[in-house]
Amino acid sequence: MDKLPYEWLEEIINVAAEWIVVVDREGFIQYMNQAYCDFLQTTIEEVYKKDVRDVIENTRMHIVLKTGQAEVASIQSINGSEMIANRYPLYVKDEMVGAVGTVMFRNSRDWLDYSQKVQPLLEELTYYKKKFQKELRSKYRFDDLIGQTAAFLEAKRLAERVSGSQSSVLILGESGTGKELFAHAIHHASPRGQFPLVRVNCASIPEHLLESEMFGYEEGAFTGAKRGGKKGKFELAHRGTLFLDEIGDMPLPMQSKLLRVLQEKEIERIGGRAPVPIDVRVIAATHRNLEKMVEEGTFRQDLYYRLNVMKIEIPPLRERRGDIMPLALMLLKKLGRKFHREGIGLSSEVENRLLHHMWPGNIRELENVLERAVNVLDGTMIRIPHLPLYLQDEPLTKVECSQGKEQEKAKNVLLPSIRPLKDVLAQAEKEAIIQALKAANGNKLEAAKMLGIGKTSFYDKLKLYTSSDFPAGY
Ligand SMILES: Nc1ncnc2c1ncn2[C@@H]1O[C@H](COP(=O)(O)OP(=O)(O)OP(=O)(O)O)[C@@H](O)[C@H]1O
Ligand SMILES: [Mg+2]
Repeated sequence: MDKLPYEWLEEIINVAAEWIVVVDREGFIQYMNQAYCDFLQTTIEEVYKKDVRDVIENTRMHIVLKTGQAEVASIQSINGSEMIANRYPLYVKDEMVGAVGTVMFRNSRDWLDYSQKVQPLLEELTYYKKKFQKELRSKYRFDDLIGQTAAFLEAKRLAERVSGSQSSVLILGESGTGKELFAHAIHHASPRGQFPLVRVNCASIPEHLLESEMFGYEEGAFTGAKRGGKKGKFELAHRGTLFLDEIGDMPLPMQSKLLRVLQEKEIERIGGRAPVPIDVRVIAATHRNLEKMVEEGTFRQDLYYRLNVMKIEIPPLRERRGDIMPLALMLLKKLGRKFHREGIGLSSEVENRLLHHMWPGNIRELENVLERAVNVLDGTMIRIPHLPLYLQDEPLTKVECSQGKEQEKAKNVLLPSIRPLKDVLAQAEKEAIIQALKAANGNKLEAAKMLGIGKTSFYDKLKLYTSSDFPAGY
């Protein structure tokens, strides 16, 4: 090296090291190449022996001198642009004598090209970060929960009461009864409302990924682990609420780990050394019968007691028929806005059909029925032909019961007539298939799995019912 003339060395640095700055042990500039000086609109004479912090915006050279740790590819904002900087401590004969900093562009043209490519990416990243933060906030309030029957109001009042406490909450209810809505409302009304609400769908995450999703992992914890590790849902929900949806589908080994976290109030990342303390309130929900699962040994009893501090049971729609019309009208308004079709009404025959149907899929089913109707509608009045065939088919008969206020309202509600058991069973089977197909977005294998029947038997039944009276699209 000492054979190379000084001018050569200087030029080599210029072509090889983009922009470069060298400081001594105290952080005073010893060298800055021409390209860097040009970019900062200065000269080497002007910056020589000046404190680097007075010359380069947002520099961290003084920090590298303190820590002795190199900082590679860190983003630094200079003159309003994001640049990539590398900073290395400079050791000569085992002693730190200063530090070298480089910025990865030799001329402003390179930098301009780069910034035109990268700046939009950074903006995009900021956008998604913000969006992600927003997603973590609760979307529904108690005011959004429609229903005025005594059974529903009781559940709603209890939920309002528990929102102030820190205890775990267990929400039980059939599919589509609004468990997620309740969880959002409880979180929002709680002192944790400002902090994230993080949902984990215990049924949809594959068993082998559940642990890393819940607790996160450290860098290098396993092959394919992300650089820098990953936060788990517990950590993301810190100071907020963790909503464990479909808790009844959580595998037993995971249940034990969850119980440990709830007791110890700390988590261990996979591959992590020290436990991380967490402050999270848990709201769990399921449509399954957890008590029965405990009896059968598929759900841990101790976890059940731990979660069941406050239990909210949302009644199915067929047990609160007085809520059907208010919900239908609210949903129609919502659909009207979504499809730009305001002022849609229901014919009285349709009202009757809606009022007497059993709603196995509850409010979600009602929502689907109305959305389908709005889609096939020409005018503004939903009539019988706009309903799915399985609803059009249902024979009606008058109910004659009256007991208390709710039944008062249901007095004129029409219920299915008594029919041969064979027909009733066939109808129930058909409905179950339709519901499963809907829930599985039309995926037949998935639907068969949900119904707990084999694929051949499912296809046979499907063939049997795919006659003229099966709803379109299935
Ligand atoms: N009381 C209510 N007021 C207004 N909308 C409701 C109400 N209950 C449920 N909904 C609507 O019904 C749909 C289903 O609700 P949600 O997803 O909370 O049900 P769920 O009980 O979690 O069902 P699943 O067990 O299938 O997950 C949602 O679109 C929700 O907006
Ligand atoms: Mg749900």
